[in-house]
Amino acid sequence: MDDLIAAAAAVRENAHAPYSGFRVGAAIRTPDGRVFAGCNVENVAYPEGTCAEAGAIAAMVAGGATRIAAIAVIADSPAPVPPCGGCRQKMAEFAAPDAPVRLATTSGEASDTTVADLLPGAFGAGHMDAR
Ligand code: THU
Repeated sequence: MDDLIAAAAAVRENAHAPYSGFRVGAAIRTPDGRVFAGCNVENVAYPEGTCAEAGAIAAMVAGGATRIAAIAVIADSPAPVPPCGGCRQKMAEFAAPDAPVRLATTSGEASDTTVADLLPGAFGAGHMDAR
């Protein structure tokens, strides 16, 4: 996971966060070992901003991959920042429930969790089977 944290910390430097001042980086490892990274990209029309996790997922899909083996997120926060609700659902789209997630701070704190712990009772394709 250390390499994923390093990739997330590096891409965080490119975050566009002039409105919140809160820069976030995320990095995904795919099952074949490739790493894709993303940062938050804010917009003056605030709701148009995107999270670091969404950026990393977009990079992964653009790179031709659709499975997340592990994901790391880093921010300069007093405690490891939990991903927003929308990003939890986005992760669940591409990750197994037990996929590891490491949440880290730039000062070296880290907290390990999984996609299922972040999104218990996730809505999935199976919920549409009765149509
Ligand atoms: N943000 C992320 O990029 N990921 C998270 O997990 C939490 C929040 C961003 C969105 C926004 O640009 C800024 O942090 C403040 O919410």
